[in-house]
Amino acid sequence: MPKRVTNPSARNVTDANHDKRDYLFESADGAGTPMKIVKCVPPDAPRLFFRALNLEDIGHLQVIFSDPLAMRHYPATKSIAETREWIERSMTSYERHGHGLWAVCLRETGEFLGQCGLIHQELRANPDKEIGYSFQRRFWGRGYATEAARAVKEAALTIFGFPYVVSFIAPDNEPSIKVARRIGMELEEILPPEANKWNRTVHVYSQTIRDPNLAASGL
Ligand SMILES: CC(C)(COP(=O)(O)OP(=O)(O)OC[C@H]1O[C@@H](n2cnc3c(N)ncnc32)[C@H](O)[C@@H]1OP(=O)(O)O)[C@@H](O)C(=O)NCCC(=O)NCCS
Repeated sequence: MPKRVTNPSARNVTDANHDKRDYLFESADGAGTPMKIVKCVPPDAPRLFFRALNLEDIGHLQVIFSDPLAMRHYPATKSIAETREWIERSMTSYERHGHGLWAVCLRETGEFLGQCGLIHQELRANPDKEIGYSFQRRFWGRGYATEAARAVKEAALTIFGFPYVVSFIAPDNEPSIKVARRIGMELEEILPPEANKWNRTVHVYSQTIRDPNLAASGL
């Protein structure tokens, strides 16, 4: 598993709203050879930008996690302590995998809308990279989740080198299924409750991503 190492030449780019960092990872051989620089967040989307989640987002995420409607496909709403743990797990994922769920903000105002990103999931025989998303309810119905998920999908290939992504979705989570379908995912597999950690039927939407440059050239 790649491990972040100190790199004096790594850029730290920060402006008023953005927290975009490049990280240098050790090669998998463990010899400490620099492997590649991974840009930690996807590039801006037309209306959105991504940044790493941090503990100052507890209030932002709490708006989603305390909303019974937003959480109806999850086991329960989350307390403030659970929201803090959620963010800490995201921060650990940045360190461990180079990616995780990121904050999605409005370019125009910097406002926090929700979270979207790439989650390392060990649910099936081989690990998956899941595109996950949840947004504050007042920002639903404006296409932000689809725009963010599309940007994350493109980053999965172009930044992180993952040609195959999934979304694990409850069969009756219609808005989420629509987002997955809009970005090109198709239903691949149905996991019965006994075959996953959530003990619920899970629909696996997936897509093998084509290189956007090849797609543009018609190849
Ligand atoms: C899943 C979730 C993010 C989807 O949110 P959403 O608002 O339905 O999705 P989008 O932001 O992509 O918005 C799409 C809608 O905006 C509409 N829209 C309005 N203006 C638009 C614009 N400028 N561009 C694109 N779409 C626009 C679309 O027509 C679409 O409407 P429709 O669903 O009636 O067809 C949201 O329901 C959520 O946060 N749920 C709780 C968490 C959750 O369940 N996450 C998924 C776990 S698997």
